[in-house]
Amino acid sequence: MNGFTTRHLILNLTADFEAHQLAGSVELHLDRSDTWATELALDTRALEIHSVETSTDAHPFAPTTFSLDADDPAFGSPLRIAMPTGANRVRIRYTTSSLAKGLQWLTPEQTAGRSHPFMFTQAEPIQARSFLPCQDTPSVRATFDATISVPPGLVVVMGAEATASDRERGVYTFHMPQPIPSYLIALAVGDLTFRPMSARTGIWAEPVTVDAAAAEFEDTEAMIVETEALYGPYRWGRYDILVLPPSFPFGGMENPRLTFATPTVITGDKSLVSLVAHELAHSWSGNLVTNATWGDFWLNEGFTVYLERRIIESVYGKRRADMDAVIALKDLAEARANITVARDRTLQPDLTGRDPDDAYSIVPYEQGALFLMWIESKVGRPAFDAFLRAWFDEHAFQSATTAECLSFLRCRLLDQQPGVVSDAEIHEWLHSEGVPSFAVLPTSDAFECVAEVMRAWLGGDERALATEATAWTTQEWMHFIDALPRNLPMAQMSELDTRFDLTRSRNAEIAHVWFRLAIATKYEAAFAAMERYLVSIGRRKFIVPIYRDLVVTPSGHALAARIYAIARPGYHPLAQTTIDALVGVS
Ligand code: BES
Ligand code: ZN
Repeated sequence: MNGFTTRHLILNLTADFEAHQLAGSVELHLDRSDTWATELALDTRALEIHSVETSTDAHPFAPTTFSLDADDPAFGSPLRIAMPTGANRVRIRYTTSSLAKGLQWLTPEQTAGRSHPFMFTQAEPIQARSFLPCQDTPSVRATFDATISVPPGLVVVMGAEATASDRERGVYTFHMPQPIPSYLIALAVGDLTFRPMSARTGIWAEPVTVDAAAAEFEDTEAMIVETEALYGPYRWGRYDILVLPPSFPFGGMENPRLTFATPTVITGDKSLVSLVAHELAHSWSGNLVTNATWGDFWLNEGFTVYLERRIIESVYGKRRADMDAVIALKDLAEARANITVARDRTLQPDLTGRDPDDAYSIVPYEQGALFLMWIESKVGRPAFDAFLRAWFDEHAFQSATTAECLSFLRCRLLDQQPGVVSDAEIHEWLHSEGVPSFAVLPTSDAFECVAEVMRAWLGGDERALATEATAWTTQEWMHFIDALPRNLPMAQMSELDTRFDLTRSRNAEIAHVWFRLAIATKYEAAFAAMERYLVSIGRRKFIVPIYRDLVVTPSGHALAARIYAIARPGYHPLAQTTIDALVGVS
């Protein structure tokens, strides 16, 4: 890492909600791997750098010279700092800008409570550099201390231990004892309150959301217990969940000790808590053993989806885990069909010179999980569980490449069972642009029943839905609506809507598949509700496919443009970039 490796950070930042800026300083404590290195290059993007000082150990800081490279659209501007002989600390005073891709500033109207502003960071994959000069790579880990000042009355949380808090003065301090990569540094500020769920789990949320969230996520402790039984101790102390305002662009983000989660999974029936299983699973796959480069992203996400399904199976049963897996398999096919760069359809996109976000898709998630399910089916579950546990234990708090993972797989698992899988098969899993023909695909008995009901109903059996559908879970509804013909007659759209109130569904997953069917069938009775949905929710997975469906026809494009003009200011910068490319900016 250019002669220096960051080991510890000291952050001192003030959040200015008028200027939408973080301002202050970061101090980096570095290891020198090259005694003679004279320059430290840090990642930055859209930062204003006021001063840079260096010191050796705890000696006083002295100013040094620095320069910023020209902005690269993919990676920002390296900050080049002159390092005197022996210097191993730098202190940088800086301010963020309105172009910070890793920050979202919300007005009170954009929050659930509508009374206080809100801000949060989202650092993965390479947005930490837009709010913090750092070695912004998943292969460098540091501990940190932080002091965050905010307007009096607002609450600050971080993915770290809270060491002191003063709500009246608006000053909060944190300590992060476990070393983490920059993409896991996380901060949020708002009108937040806390509800404990168990001794080590709890919910941070706006007061209007916290009770519903605590009820929805009450099985979190049971999930941790099951995961520990499978993969070893939870090593991060607390596991809390921060419920963000609806414009959060992701479903969840596995910030250590404090998962960030969209409120769109709060349905009242716990049917979408696989999101918590997923982010919790990252406490092993991703946060403990981290992808060394963003090209190895499947090591984070593919392993995590596999763990997520195992946790769901342990806590809610195989029927539920199977439904999730079958839905995901269909999503994988759709995602692949929308990818234009061939290598991005494989487990390992080529990210040379590219912003990793440009290659983002669910391929590393689902192809990765299918790969692991396939190995499990070949070697048996007990052997595979032991292998995974050893992978986490022996690489804890380290980063790993795909090559390292494959060699560990060979010598710790496959060599013990010669002939069960071939090199050619593994090669195909890694390089194929589709699911290999020999994959072991998930199936769902529950969905077989849904398919039967659907055939009967489409064939004219009026009573087919009356008996079954009233007891369907979220997943069965998703599967049913998604499998309906895209040219379903208006009369049948109306019938479904009248009987099951789908246009007014408050379940964001069901509403999502219903709106997509409504676009295909031109069922305009759902469009006003769809508009409210697009304006109030910022989760990319939910909104991007709807915009994509709309823009294919001229009238749909006009509708998308009109709605986007209203919705855009409420979206996260990352969502804006994605949808600007689809709809165009007006
Ligand atoms: N780590 C990801 C979120 C992420 C990935 C953010 C890449 C930025 C860049 C997180 O664990 C995740 O995968 N979230 C999913 C939900 C999950 C249940 C599949 C999401 O946000 O949709
Ligand atoms: Zn994930």
